Amino acid sequence: MAIRKVAILTSGGDAPGLNGVIRAFVKSAVIEHGWEVVGIEDGFEGLVGKPRLRPLGLKEVRGLLGRGGTILGSTNKGNFGWRKNAQGELERNDAAYQEFVANAKAEGIDAVVVLGGEGSQSIAHDLGNFGLPVVGVPKTIDNDLVGTDQTFGFDTAIGVATDALDRLHTTAESHDRVMVLEVMGRHAGWIALHAGLAGGVDAILIPEIPFDLRALAHKINERDSVGSSFSIIIVAEGAMPTGGEAIYQREGLLGGIGYYVANQLATLTDKDTRAVVLGHIQRGGSPTPIDRILASRYGVGAVWAISQGRFGQLVAIQNDQLITVPLLECANKIKPVPVDGQMVRTARSLGVVFGDEEHRINQ
Ligand code: F6P
Repeated sequence: MAIRKVAILTSGGDAPGLNGVIRAFVKSAVIEHGWEVVGIEDGFEGLVGKPRLRPLGLKEVRGLLGRGGTILGSTNKGNFGWRKNAQGELERNDAAYQEFVANAKAEGIDAVVVLGGEGSQSIAHDLGNFGLPVVGVPKTIDNDLVGTDQTFGFDTAIGVATDALDRLHTTAESHDRVMVLEVMGRHAGWIALHAGLAGGVDAILIPEIPFDLRALAHKINERDSVGSSFSIIIVAEGAMPTGGEAIYQREGLLGGIGYYVANQLATLTDKDTRAVVLGHIQRGGSPTPIDRILASRYGVGAVWAISQGRFGQLVAIQNDQLITVPLLECANKIKPVPVDGQMVRTARSLGVVFGDEEHRINQ
């Protein structure tokens, strides 16, 4: 199949490095193949109704490597391909897929690149079933996508969270306080685990390991008894107490576990406690050098995948090799932190608690 025109879209929550992928994709497509490139605006919605496309050439991607966000816009409302039936229940809307594919064909688009997380890659796979050649590029700051070793945006998020922990350390020490930092991580605790290790915290709470507050209180008291009268805890937004549930601010919006932990520990110990929610500061701003390099590799990889006809595949990096894996292998799947993996064991060896320390709870 001769490729002449390709399109790219960004879907789901943004991540530092999206613009770097767009830049690399455009540069490689133009320089190596002479393809015409268009950007689809606002995710999949940009090809439903009146197409919202913008031409992307070398001039349009100038200066994008270090710029956060996505110039194409994105949405994570998750509405594409679903509609409410007469009973108010969500049902699949094949018409949206058909319209997207018909619009793409009418615009002369030969292949589409989808930058998105596990939900977006599921849509990308389904678009393939409607006859559109699609290549996926994995995206999330949470680093919880199956099939690839590291997503761009993760390193930036760890950097921001580590900086926050460094700052919390000094003020915690001044006031003999327990500081709790809540970071992103809906289903997996990669950001909390990595930033927690880099920031030298005393406890790491992640969705994969339900926690008991008594284990945390024990750790805080133990530190007090040896003269370390402050403690730092990092908690992923999706973490939950044993037998409990994740905390939502409102329907669909996680948040509040940091305040819950801080308030409970104020009761269980005699310490003054405070919580800080890092939120979207982790997702905004300029990507780190590692994320810029990853973004460049993924963008060039998407061009390579199209040129090889690897449709229905996700561009991935495994053991430092650029490969593709079937979209179905990663669609709607999550890569959890291995609870007995080397990272968790390293943290435990350093005395970091995860809230599941039975011997401490039972004391
Ligand atoms: O990118 C994934 C993520 O960072 C989750 O950890 C978090 O729950 C979600 O995005 C929040 O996104 P938003 O507030 O944009 O809906």
